Amino acid sequence: MQKLKYPLLIASILALTACGSSSSGGKSSTPSSSSVASSSSSVVSSSSEISSTSSSVSSSASSTSVSVDIGDLNLKSEVDFPVGVAVNAGNESKSLLKNDAYGASHRAIVERHFSQITAGNIMKMSYLHPRIDDYTYTDADALVNYALEHDISVHGHVLVWHSDYQVPNFMKASSVDKATLLTMLDDHITNIVAHFTGRIASWDVVNEAFNEDGTYRENDSVFYKKANKDYIEAAFRSARAADGVVDLYYNDFNLAPGGAKLNGVLAMVDDFQTRDVPISGVGFQMHIFQDWPSTNDIKKSFKAVVDRGLKVKVTELDIPYNNPYSSGFVFKPYTNDKAEAQRTRYCQIAKTYVDTVPAAQRGGFTVWGISDDDTWLNQVLFNNAHKEWPLLFNTEFQPKPALLGVADGLSGKNC
Ligand code: XIL
Repeated sequence: MQKLKYPLLIASILALTACGSSSSGGKSSTPSSSSVASSSSSVVSSSSEISSTSSSVSSSASSTSVSVDIGDLNLKSEVDFPVGVAVNAGNESKSLLKNDAYGASHRAIVERHFSQITAGNIMKMSYLHPRIDDYTYTDADALVNYALEHDISVHGHVLVWHSDYQVPNFMKASSVDKATLLTMLDDHITNIVAHFTGRIASWDVVNEAFNEDGTYRENDSVFYKKANKDYIEAAFRSARAADGVVDLYYNDFNLAPGGAKLNGVLAMVDDFQTRDVPISGVGFQMHIFQDWPSTNDIKKSFKAVVDRGLKVKVTELDIPYNNPYSSGFVFKPYTNDKAEAQRTRYCQIAKTYVDTVPAAQRGGFTVWGISDDDTWLNQVLFNNAHKEWPLLFNTEFQPKPALLGVADGLSGKNC
């Protein structure tokens, strides 16, 4: 297996930079970001509302271990749509399936609270298909089998994604022209989707194909460079041909605030629907911040997809409190008051989801990681210089107030 790394999250980082600076009135000068800046203040002021679930926050909480008594709460029992979490597996050092204390504590959390998992890495392109005639399903099968044995469904992530570190080398070769690439992608998708048919509920078919300005990602996508936007439609058609019922998602970040990028995706969806290109829903990654985007903007973005009759799936939610792109940024540690603010924010996001998306169109609500010790944001946002706390369980694997916020929001309570 290729070593896991993520230098080419640059596009995401740039996007986070844009949203981060805008939310704090910082560096970005794009028109869409200034509208974000003005709306973000309403989120900050509304976050002081009182949450409805009574709970006691541990009074002995230290800056890294604020936890909360959750009684007999099982998050997944609050709703009848998938409540998901991204997990490590295979060779990853913090694999869910590891036979050690870490693995056991994470399995206990997953089995109690979540009804769906997404592989955070091990089902990306080159992990399943490193060489043209070589598919490596051992790790993914172990994860999928574990999930199904525990009555947990699986969201497949991801069939086609430009991010260089996980694109199989054979697809990048200069000798590969458009026709060859489309054949390779068809083989890739057909083989993988068929392998998991009946065992996987939904797929991210194409991930992150758009720029922030709503144009197709061109500069850093080998797929676009070789085949222009035609690879996207072809991917959806191949996936549907391989499995007639599995849900097929287009997935991207920075769709929740609305604006040019969401509009670009919606134009693609409209075109697909006009021409009967199969698509079941839009995945909103939602790598957002405590103060950005506003719930009002998120609501409008969800509704735009709902109005097209498609499913809305929150696929990768995490909510860092700290925004390194804000002016005069100073890292804030995890304390009781900030844990409560985060709880309110998580509640508002979950409630916005159930209030806006009708039951039949709820694809699910997934957080990107189990506990704060294992968030990808430490590296991406802080270059490992700080430890962010964006998830539902703390570094000691104890439930945080944020977990109660999600439970309240998903069950429609006031935040
Ligand atoms: C991230 C993983 O969480 C990291 O462990 C890995 O190093 C890089 O990829 N959008 C996506 C996910 O669709 O696949 C990314 O996952 C996060 C951004």
